[in-house]
Amino acid sequence: MQPEGKLGDVRDPSLAEEGVRLVEWAGREMPVARLIKERFSREKPLQGLTLAACLHVTPETANLALALQAGGADVRLCASNPLSTQDAAAAALAAVYDIPTYAIKGEDNDTYYGHIASVLDAEPNMTMDDGADLAAMLHTERQALLGGVIGGMEETTTGVIRLRSMAKSGKLRYPIIAVNEADTKHMFDNRYGTGQSTLDGITRATNVLFAGKNVVVAGYGWCGRGVAMRARGMGAQVIVTEVDPVRALEATMDGHRLMRMDDAARVGDVFVTVTGGKHALDARHFQAMKDEAIIANSGHFNIEINLDALEDAAVETREVRPMVRQYVTADGRRINLLAEGRLVNLAAAEGHPSAVMDMSFANQALGAEYMAKNAAQMTADVYDVPLEIDRQVASLKLEAMGQEMDVLSEEQAAYLAGWETGT
Ligand code: ADE
Repeated sequence: MQPEGKLGDVRDPSLAEEGVRLVEWAGREMPVARLIKERFSREKPLQGLTLAACLHVTPETANLALALQAGGADVRLCASNPLSTQDAAAAALAAVYDIPTYAIKGEDNDTYYGHIASVLDAEPNMTMDDGADLAAMLHTERQALLGGVIGGMEETTTGVIRLRSMAKSGKLRYPIIAVNEADTKHMFDNRYGTGQSTLDGITRATNVLFAGKNVVVAGYGWCGRGVAMRARGMGAQVIVTEVDPVRALEATMDGHRLMRMDDAARVGDVFVTVTGGKHALDARHFQAMKDEAIIANSGHFNIEINLDALEDAAVETREVRPMVRQYVTADGRRINLLAEGRLVNLAAAEGHPSAVMDMSFANQALGAEYMAKNAAQMTADVYDVPLEIDRQVASLKLEAMGQEMDVLSEEQAAYLAGWETGT
């Protein structure tokens, strides 16, 4: 292991060659990020800015980091989850691409927060978060640095909720663009990305057959919709649990079975939490579960499954496969927890496919450019991604996919803009 220094702290720099191959492979499916990188190389919209990013350190993130670097930013990167780092990608970033990277798969909590502190040591002008841990540390332990920060971006639902709560209580000190709120982010990344990668993570960890299983999906936001849709596609009977009546109704009309978790706990074979909240699976649910139930989380934080209660319910625990810890209850039932209750799609698989991260990260890069230009006119609040950026990302993606769409004629546009014409 190399000492912490300019190039950060990664597991093994000798993995860099493998990492470069993975970064280039991911880049094949990231045409929008590539176009942005090419333009950024010419225009340098981020020149002179130090950008601290706390993201899942994957080959897709490496492609984003390279686009930001091409735009002139001095990029520093750390992990946004202790289990989501792909060590080869981290090595390539640090040893080949000259981006100081602080991320080791399986790092303990102290190292995780130490790594965030390390990227903050660079005194960033801009932040990029996935879950808001970087912004949270800046606003608590490192407030002296806040004066130098012009703005930031946030990738995920959980982070946006946290930052809105900071803004509401008057604690937020710089403007944030909520990348998650772009249509070209949540409708694709959260739905198709989480849908596919969550089933991928569960499959890699367990090799379970979904066909004929009862799959319980807790939460029917964009991620839950994706997981439910893909589980059904694999032949599972999908049960959804929800606390929001509109989403619950939507799940029902989408053809899923709606149940309270208290009831679903008795019949589920595989449970996936994607609520963004706390303890969707709790002590009473573990008491009701069938022998050999599989439980996994794909929400940002590892608090959707009450891990302390699971520990309390067990008389014995054992690692039965990589990423599968079995909890044996006093009455002999076995409950299989995947990936320590952390994001199963990133911990047990590779996260979302590159083609979908292309759009999320295009929003990140264009958001950073927008922030660099407009931060002086923005107040310390949470902003949506400007509509022009959202539409630009969709248009570029369609073009890259070789898809063509219609354009309104002048007559059609005038009709839609007016109100006079009726029946
Ligand atoms: N979040 C989900 N999947 C991801 C990936 N492949 N890279 C970075 N962040 C992600």
